[in-house]
Amino acid sequence: MTERLEDIANKMVAEGKGILAADESTGTIKKRFDTISLTSTEESRRDYREMLFRADAMKDYISGVILFDETLRQAARDGTPFSKIIQDAGAVPGIKVDQGAKDMALSPGEKVTEGLTGLRGRLKEYYELGARFAKWRAVITIDGPLPSWNCVKANAHALARYAALCQENGILPIVEPEVLMDGERAKHDIDRCYEVTEWTLKTVFTELYDANVMLEGMILKPNMIVPGDHSGQKASVEEVAEKTLRCLKSCVPPAVPGIAFLSGGQSDEQATAHLSAMNAMGQLPWKLTYSYGRALQTAALNAWGGKMENEAAGQRAFNHRARMNSLAATGRWSETEEKKAA
Ligand code: 13P
Repeated sequence: MTERLEDIANKMVAEGKGILAADESTGTIKKRFDTISLTSTEESRRDYREMLFRADAMKDYISGVILFDETLRQAARDGTPFSKIIQDAGAVPGIKVDQGAKDMALSPGEKVTEGLTGLRGRLKEYYELGARFAKWRAVITIDGPLPSWNCVKANAHALARYAALCQENGILPIVEPEVLMDGERAKHDIDRCYEVTEWTLKTVFTELYDANVMLEGMILKPNMIVPGDHSGQKASVEEVAEKTLRCLKSCVPPAVPGIAFLSGGQSDEQATAHLSAMNAMGQLPWKLTYSYGRALQTAALNAWGGKMENEAAGQRAFNHRARMNSLAATGRWSETEEKKAA
């Protein structure tokens, strides 16, 4: 297996493939399981992930899977380590290494992501466990005058320090600065999302440069440019695609091999439609694909419902969503395709 960061990057953004974000922390997966009235235990978490990782979609549409610490160490019911199941499907196992967005001191209403202390040692262990890429998520909240420069700068700096540590240890960093679109405070319009995302990305790339991060050996995981959930505004697919591309083109150097979006609370179909519209808009300097959590999993979670006998139904739902997003990653998704397979 080739181990150059550039090769890992290219494999992860291979034509028609994208990333499955299955790295929900113990707290977040509990919230997801609550929606299907399932108790979150080590066993139920394993059964759910096993259902996903053994689905056919893994071979055809998934290039990498982001895991939480527990999952990277876990094995399927027959004892096969999850990392092996993922590798055997031709995908790269990855690991969420941040330790969460915490309240930022003296910056009310804002978060800063923690987890740098001891990160070098953890990366070495994750490498031994088979991880070849990592993820760190920074959270930027828009609310009235927020975000502050303090919040944007501190989060960008932490992302760059994380990315440098990853590259030092042969692990590809996914750099995720998420400007939030969901939550009650998200009352901003699409142009405010543009402005804050642009500011955040420009700051992140300045910090990455200062930290000597090799752009060819990373993947950016940004939000799309959309109005806040509670803005009362609706944007057309064309407007989201056009503004997102314009913002990315002005901020992301062509040396970056790929951009893999988060879904951020968009509906499954919106997340797919937006990605497809962008890829249909013509030549781009980087690959544009998905690194969805909710938009790849919600339908599968609901179809599975925590019941062993629904495993095949859960996998069918996951296969369908993954195929739709694979089409979107090459600009070929359509509502007809969506309905045909549903
Ligand atoms: P969503 O696609 O559900 O936003 O999750 C992606 C992710 O990995 C967030 O860190």
